Amino acid sequence: MHNTTVVNATVVNTTPVFSSAGIVWLKLAGLYLMIGMVMGIAMGASENFILRPVHAHVNLLGWVTLALSGLVYSIFPQAAHNWLAKLHFWLLNLSLPVMMVALTLLMLGNKAVIPIMGAAEIVSAVAVLAFVINIFKNLCAG
Ligand code: HEM
Repeated sequence: MHNTTVVNATVVNTTPVFSSAGIVWLKLAGLYLMIGMVMGIAMGASENFILRPVHAHVNLLGWVTLALSGLVYSIFPQAAHNWLAKLHFWLLNLSLPVMMVALTLLMLGNKAVIPIMGAAEIVSAVAVLAFVINIFKNLCAG
């Protein structure tokens, strides 16, 4: 069913057009939201805030960034089906769990993970760069 409205005697179709391109991103974002919330509740209940940076990054990089990426790909499917989007997906979704585990270990005092964390950070930065290039190349109003 299409919603329509009349603007200056012109019938305009106001049904938003979304694609399914961002669904996987949104589902993964939901998983990070669950993990981030459980961590937040656990920190509050135990009054132990050592893993606060992990909680913040799981929520902001995991939930917020993945969800926004999914929404962008759903609204602008022309940006979702190219090699930049694939690079963004795989590099970010492989490096982010590594980064979060490494950050957890680092916060718990294991400094040996610093090179692994650095490598994962660089990979996720490349993923985000691919996303931003994709946005500039392929997002258009029409
Ligand atoms: C049920 C949900 C959540 C709970 C129970 C929770 C709990 C907490 C707790 C206990 C802290 C530490 C506060 C302190 O040290 O004084 C914290 C910090 C923080 N949370 Fe959450 N949180 C939740 C959801 C979120 C979400 C959805 C986001 C972001 C989208 C978020 C972002 C942050 C940030 C940025 C910090 C500060 C980290 C820092 O200072 O290093 N939280 N949260």
